Amino acid sequence: MKNKNIAIIGAGNIGISLARGLVASGEIMPGAISLIKRKVETISHLKELGFVVTDNLADAVIPANVLVLAVLPQQLKNVLLELRGLIKPGKHLVISVVSGVSVADIAELLENGVEVVRAMPNTAIAIRESMTCIASPSASRESIKFVEGVFNTVGETIEINEELMTSATALCACGIAFFLRAIRAASQGGIELGFHSDEALRMAAQTAKGAASLLASGAHPEREIDKVTSPKGCTIAGLNEMEFNGFSSALIRGIKVSAHKAGDLYNKGG
Ligand SMILES: NC(=O)c1ccc[n+]([C@@H]2O[C@H](COP(=O)([O-])OP(=O)(O)OC[C@H]3O[C@@H](n4cnc5c(N)ncnc54)[C@H](OP(=O)(O)O)[C@@H]3O)[C@@H](O)[C@H]2O)c1
Repeated sequence: MKNKNIAIIGAGNIGISLARGLVASGEIMPGAISLIKRKVETISHLKELGFVVTDNLADAVIPANVLVLAVLPQQLKNVLLELRGLIKPGKHLVISVVSGVSVADIAELLENGVEVVRAMPNTAIAIRESMTCIASPSASRESIKFVEGVFNTVGETIEINEELMTSATALCACGIAFFLRAIRAASQGGIELGFHSDEALRMAAQTAKGAASLLASGAHPEREIDKVTSPKGCTIAGLNEMEFNGFSSALIRGIKVSAHKAGDLYNKGG
């Protein structure tokens, strides 16, 4: 990535998180990353960190070789129409993190045979802990490997079939909010039991991190749950009460609804 110049088109939540994560990885200098948005005054502070900040697409795209599309699905068509005359196949590689918009949709609007790879990161990319799903039915292996390399510097990657991209959006990108809400809810239980809110949040977050780390070390969730649920004990009592109230089913149904919505955002405008 050392010799690359990256233009991030759509410097919002995920665009800025990506830029910060890439710089934190040490693989690229902030001066090689352009951040593009229309209301550029809202990110003028990022200039002080060394990023190039601009509202002029052409100024950023012409020197770049990697273009990251990070606008909302309903904003994408206008951006692609503007990009059409600026992009050069062979020079530019397009990475789209936009939910629900296929490689074919993007390629059709760009009209010039440029390679497009989709990536679905999450906001933990800012601290280099993203789970990023990558897909492209048409890009070369070399380009897909390059995109994996980019996102491996800011977390973990997995290559998936493109038709599973909206499912990946729900599980991993929206999933950050689902897990955060679960941790927040656990901390609120802790507050009711007598802890101050900051203590309860810290305790719940570290417990969640420990649970995730057990899985990362190769454990299976149910086997780990079995270790905590002693006969007639307090864990099984709490867990069963949660399940009677639909804990697993609420997560499963929420993820399915999110995936459905993610697939509709581009074509139906949300
Ligand atoms: N947030 C997440 O966790 C996450 C995770 C994975 C993927 N995504 C996907 O990433 C995309 C962006 O999400 P987000 O949460 O980062 O949204 P966001 O915060 O609203 O960012 C979108 C940015 O695009 C800019 N923009 C809009 N039209 C533009 C144009 N014509 N030219 C240049 N910039 C333009 C907007 O700024 P101006 O209005 O100032 O132009 C805004 O800063 C979405 O497609 C989403 O599905 C998000």
